[in-house]
Amino acid sequence: MSTGSILAGALAPHPPHLIYAENPPQNEPRAECGWENLRWGYERMRKDLDALDYDVIVVLSPHWQTYVGTHFLGVPRFESLSVDPIFPNLFRFRYGLDVDVDLAEAICAEASSEGLVTQMMRNPDFRVDYGTIISSHMTRPAWDKPIVGISSCRNTAFYSVEVMQEQSLALGRATRRAIEASGKRALLLASNSLSHRHFTTEGALPEDMSREHITSHAMYLWDMKVIELMKQGRSREIFDLMPEFVTQAISEADSGALSWLLAAMDFPTEPAEVYAYGTVIGTGNVVAAWTNP
Ligand SMILES: [Fe+2]
Repeated sequence: MSTGSILAGALAPHPPHLIYAENPPQNEPRAECGWENLRWGYERMRKDLDALDYDVIVVLSPHWQTYVGTHFLGVPRFESLSVDPIFPNLFRFRYGLDVDVDLAEAICAEASSEGLVTQMMRNPDFRVDYGTIISSHMTRPAWDKPIVGISSCRNTAFYSVEVMQEQSLALGRATRRAIEASGKRALLLASNSLSHRHFTTEGALPEDMSREHITSHAMYLWDMKVIELMKQGRSREIFDLMPEFVTQAISEADSGALSWLLAAMDFPTEPAEVYAYGTVIGTGNVVAAWTNP
């Protein structure tokens, strides 16, 4: 078997508003428009990633929150209705999702050998979280590639950013080793926003873009700092900045998704391609990808 590899890693945030505004047939609510900058950024990213012809999508989602260790989707197919608990008015999505169980088991085993607490999710009635679904859909709306779903074990909340960082490093190494041994070509997705302070009220029309802006200049400055490092290929510095960034910008990178992605790619020194930056209910979101040379 030939050596597998990580072809690319992308920051693929999951605000349900993006799917709502896209109006795919799977989603019940209908929108007029909205958040075009981010959606058109996703469009451009899709073109570039599709050209790489990857075999499998490996996604770590902040909204699959596990409290004892890191879990992996472990059933060949999941089908259900996903309803966003905060925005049921925007996201009621019928999904059918194929899982690469072999690769999931391989990453799980490698993570265990790194000393991480791990578990395979074998419940066929398990409802896949909306972060996994939205990032996967926006990246590959055809749903024709199998997925490996990885949970966030909330180390930042239970312990500290530093513990999250250590475990993300280990999980990243494990992910890379398992992919290389599998012979498969993988696309990794970190399903998180950057700054994550959001509005607490919603207008009558969710897609009213006259209301959409960053919640504060401080959040904006943090987002620009991280994006600048991405564009300069200084990914190790992004990782090192994580404790301050997560704390100051209330970042959804607290989930470990971005740290895991960078570690799995062994800290790319090539510039990331930044496709879009935009806010959703005031949170800062970047759509960007590192493609392995
Ligand atoms: Fe989220």
